[in-house]
Amino acid sequence: MKKLFIKTYGCQMNAYDSARMADLLAPLGYAATDAADGADMVILNTCHIREKAAEKVYSELGRLAQMKREKPGLLVAVAGCIAQAEGEEMTTRVPAIDMLVGPQSYHRLPEMIARHARGQGQVLETDFPALEKFDHLPQSTDTAVSAFLTVQEGCDKFCTFCVVPYTRGPEHSRSPESVIAEAKALASRGAREIVLLGQNVNAYRGTDAAGKIWNLARLAAGLADVEDILRIRYMTSHPRDMDDELIAAHGANEKLMPFLHLPGQSGSDTVLEAMNRQHTADDYLRLIERLRAARPDIAFSSDFIVGFPGESDADFQATMDLVRTVKFAQCFSFKYSPRPGTPAAGARKVIAEAVKTERLQALQALLLQQQDQANLSVIGKSVPVLFEKSGRDPGQLVGRTPWLQPVHVHGPKSLIGRVADVAIERLTANSLHGALHDESVLLESALA
Ligand code: SAH
Ligand code: SF4
Ligand code: F3S
Repeated sequence: MKKLFIKTYGCQMNAYDSARMADLLAPLGYAATDAADGADMVILNTCHIREKAAEKVYSELGRLAQMKREKPGLLVAVAGCIAQAEGEEMTTRVPAIDMLVGPQSYHRLPEMIARHARGQGQVLETDFPALEKFDHLPQSTDTAVSAFLTVQEGCDKFCTFCVVPYTRGPEHSRSPESVIAEAKALASRGAREIVLLGQNVNAYRGTDAAGKIWNLARLAAGLADVEDILRIRYMTSHPRDMDDELIAAHGANEKLMPFLHLPGQSGSDTVLEAMNRQHTADDYLRLIERLRAARPDIAFSSDFIVGFPGESDADFQATMDLVRTVKFAQCFSFKYSPRPGTPAAGARKVIAEAVKTERLQALQALLLQQQDQANLSVIGKSVPVLFEKSGRDPGQLVGRTPWLQPVHVHGPKSLIGRVADVAIERLTANSLHGALHDESVLLESALA
């Protein structure tokens, strides 16, 4: 057996892709390992979204080049979004790279390994062969209770700050049949929650064998018919693609969880316009209202960028106001990072680093307060928790509420993969703690 180490940077889609690359290389005799030391092949699955993410990859490549000097047979591959964005520039800069593969071409890795073995030197694949890749990937071996499933890739939105349309290519959706087949296979291996992934997952438009187009609401309804699937989530959504049917599905589809990640980016119309987000702050707020009307207990998370070129104090205050109005359960926030090749990178009115830092701190303090508030609001309540795995302490289980909050309880391992009601008692750091109180569950734990 040869050892394969995959290091994943970036978003959930990269995590999904890494798992699929491991599945793809298993038949070639590669077994996954959790460290670069002693590995025969290392894949860095990279992220290009912000400068910091890219810097980390180059320092890791420096270490791998050193390792390769000691072990010349070590295969070094770079996958993901930096590979796609930089291509040959990257292989020239780092001669230790043996293979470089973009996110739409990684199904060609076995063939690339063979070409490299035949002495072809550095092997590159950065085409966008539509979604051909999904026809060439073996079945997933994922056994997690909560499993990722990519249904849509790429982006046609071209926000002026973002590299994704260039690294992941145009929007493409998988067929509903192939998605449902993969979901059933995941469920047969123990998955009880399916997280549908896409760069713009709510732009999903899959064509079935009869030529009919399915939107995300219809796909979620199709998945809800699979008995073993108890929970359905999706991410990431664009506000523009939140159609009436999907909003209504949050009220009608009981398996669709009341939690939505809906990036807002800014609360200022001037900044939103400069970002080419194609919606106003008011559009965003009205969307939140409509979702709350469809599903009153729905919780929201979001992404915000501070220090976009030209962002004034008033613009930033508009973001703070929007956040105060919505009250997020959880949120990500970032300092604007100029990315090569994106329109905003050439903007003149750059914001000083110190101002970015100050704004980020103020925003994060507010968001943290809101997150605590959301967590505190479930204390004293009985909440259905899907148990995912054992915790660190003996006899401890970890699961999640419908609102994605982690919950720790003491209970029998037989609960993993099942939903049970938990009386939530307290909050520590970012986790809730509680006790099982359903009698049949308690009886089971007494017998276990
Ligand atoms: N498809 C997702 C975004 C993926 S990137 C969407 O449409 O929302 C995840 C987040 O990274 C974005 O929502 C944005 O907040 C942030 N981001 C993207 N480019 C960035 C940049 N150049 N600087 C700082 N943050 C950025
Ligand atoms: Fe990037 Fe905008 Fe596309 Fe999201 S919608 S991936 S932020 S370009
Ligand atoms: Fe990063 Fe590419 Fe995901 S740039 S965030 S890994 S789509």
